[in-house]
Amino acid sequence: MPPESLLTVARVVKRFGGFRALDEVSFSLKAGEILGVVGPNGSGKTTAINVISGLYPADEGDVVFNGRSINRLSMSARAKLGINRTFQIPKPFKALTVSENIEVALHNIRPTRQLVDDPIAFVGLNEMRHRQAGSLNSGQQKLLDLARALAGAPQLLLVDELAAGMNPSELDVVAQKLRQVAESGVGMIVVEHLMGFVHQLADRVVVMNAGKEIFEGQLSEAAEDPTVIAVYLGG
Ligand SMILES: Nc1ncnc2c1ncn2[C@@H]1O[C@H](COP(=O)(O)OP(=O)(O)OP(=O)(O)O)[C@@H](O)[C@H]1O
Ligand SMILES: [Mg+2]
Repeated sequence: MPPESLLTVARVVKRFGGFRALDEVSFSLKAGEILGVVGPNGSGKTTAINVISGLYPADEGDVVFNGRSINRLSMSARAKLGINRTFQIPKPFKALTVSENIEVALHNIRPTRQLVDDPIAFVGLNEMRHRQAGSLNSGQQKLLDLARALAGAPQLLLVDELAAGMNPSELDVVAQKLRQVAESGVGMIVVEHLMGFVHQLADRVVVMNAGKEIFEGQLSEAAEDPTVIAVYLGG
């Protein structure tokens, strides 16, 4: 593992029954770097985020954060170390306001260093602060979920399909905000189907197919890689 690595995923296998949702996946990430993770539906992208964030442990291989194996740590222990994530389908407390949702999320975490002084304003939801979360549209619920993840002051932020449900101008703003977060030194994994968004953000991409990593490098090179092309055209 390179010493400057923030996160190293080493030959990780995640099985559901006999099925390998992740099949010896390896990559690493430095502080301040944005890694795009792309691939067809069901290729294992969310599972990778689940295994890194601690929703469940890897069955084989290891997840190393700041030089330490975290594979057996719970999700909340990992959150305390500075790993936070968003969800592909956010599940806010709908009857609570936007502000209250952030307060609840922070209840169990003591952020060691504040990343943004006001995560709600940071994601552009200032005017929604006192609205019930259930009254937000799907794009706004994604922004609230991002604010919740940022409130935990992550060193590593895992973002699962934030773009779905947002219009192009909202997306531009979000991409700019995420860049700003990375520039403050946060490492980021951005799972996304929308290639324009990945192109805008990612320093590097990993392409997944059927639980395996089939490409790692620049997005522009991925678009010319025969294996990647076959997977996308075949799908
Ligand atoms: N908890 C689970 N139990 C059983 N199978 C699962 C579970 N989670 C994921 N899978 C399976 O693992 C595979 C990978 O799923 P995953 O959600 O990681 O895909 P994905 O790349 O995020 O897809 P999408 O782009 O549709 O979000 C799929 O076949 C899925 O059905
Ligand atoms: Mg997914």
